[in-house]
Amino acid sequence: CAAALVVVRRQMKSSGRWAKAEAILREMEDKCGAPTENLRQVADAMTAEMHAGLASDGGSKLKMLISFIDNLPTGDEKGLFYALDLGGTNFRVIRVQLGGKESTIRRESEEFSIPPHLMVGSSHELFDFIAGALAKFVATENEDFHVLPGKLRELGFTFSFPVRQLSIASGTLIKWTKGFHIEDAVGEDVVGELTKAMQRVGLDMRVAALINDTVGTLAGGKYNNPDVVAAVILGTGTNAAYIERTHAIPKWQGPLPKSGEMVINMEWGNFRSSHLPLTEYDQSLDAESLNPGEQIFEKLMSGMYLGEIVRRVLMRMAEEASFFGDNIPPKLHIPFIIRTPDMAAMHHDNSSDLKVVGCKLKDVLEVHNSSLKMRKMIVEICDIVASRGARLAAAGIFGILKKLGRNTVKDGEKQQRSVIAVDGGLFEHYTKFRNCLNRTLQELLGEDTAENIVTELSNDGSGTGAALLAASYSQYLQIEGS
Ligand code: GLC
Repeated sequence: CAAALVVVRRQMKSSGRWAKAEAILREMEDKCGAPTENLRQVADAMTAEMHAGLASDGGSKLKMLISFIDNLPTGDEKGLFYALDLGGTNFRVIRVQLGGKESTIRRESEEFSIPPHLMVGSSHELFDFIAGALAKFVATENEDFHVLPGKLRELGFTFSFPVRQLSIASGTLIKWTKGFHIEDAVGEDVVGELTKAMQRVGLDMRVAALINDTVGTLAGGKYNNPDVVAAVILGTGTNAAYIERTHAIPKWQGPLPKSGEMVINMEWGNFRSSHLPLTEYDQSLDAESLNPGEQIFEKLMSGMYLGEIVRRVLMRMAEEASFFGDNIPPKLHIPFIIRTPDMAAMHHDNSSDLKVVGCKLKDVLEVHNSSLKMRKMIVEICDIVASRGARLAAAGIFGILKKLGRNTVKDGEKQQRSVIAVDGGLFEHYTKFRNCLNRTLQELLGEDTAENIVTELSNDGSGTGAALLAASYSQYLQIEGS
């Protein structure tokens, strides 16, 4: 009889736990909800902020940075060009042989991971490390790649942080994002820093174009598909760039380009609005981040943060509902321990017993016993967090389309096709995120319009796109200087 009582008590305790965990989950689902009407408000706020950011510097949370790119590559570019892509925990060096329209691009690349201490150290150390790797890569050039005799090697430098451009090949760092924090680089010309480091390692190379990854993706995307009007990155961070008409940029003081156009790097990661569905988990994540109060849109949807939001929800469930039993798994206390690829793997688990979720809990959190009920709830958390991010990203894209007047079919006109080039690991590998984004975009556009507006994975924009831009602006510099 006493034993039966213990069992009953245990069952009651356990059902109490589940009820509490369930309540936390439902509350979170409620707060993360992004119904279509709300997304329309987010998109409208995005469009309004775009106007404000284009009107004056500092006019909006959206910096709407002028890229100095007023002509995108045509396909006529020829020659050997290098690209350097720095923007996350890895950086890549790329060598591209461009042969004009009649020949395909030949490329080689190498990837290096940045030791974490260099992401928060000094500017000198970071750029020395990069220049060193670049020099080693240049030394492996073979006869398949030709530099014209006497011609300096040229580089497209993709630097994926907010930069105030001073020209096509110079610009000062406004602030770091995505976990970088190197104070002495802020306010410095990053091309100057890289050039000095290249000189220190004896590398004779000139930066022909300094670009953001969104701008490279736009260039690479449009090169492959002329219908591309904007580019979005959904990776470690998130951002968008698009082609704006110069007369719609009141803050542009320079000469009017012949094309009448200018690529704008929106830095949409820093967007915020009262319409964003923020939760206590987002608030604490932000408060404890390296950049509190900044990059709020990015913190809701990019690869660096999604897994961390899931960890924070699990933490509350562990503390308040003993979700993992009487003890909180020690590993769960470690910020960023659940990476977004772990989250995606759990979310995509199709097995009836959610085997992958079980394995991830073991490998990542050292939770060795997990019930099916527990696993199901975890998948649900992943779904709520990923769907909110994907729906907000779709609202952002819808905002850009509105700004461009491409969100509706005009009476009696044939609708132009609009393609959004998208790059980044989150979009490429997190299928449920990608599908949800595409579905939401269609939902916002409505059937008639949706047909002609698509997202397209544009791999390696920041590599090949940067080399193409280095090529087109190298010609430009030569003509201008001659
Ligand atoms: C961050 C950077 C931005 C970049 C984006 C995607 O938001 O500030 O410049 O484009 O990440 O890499």
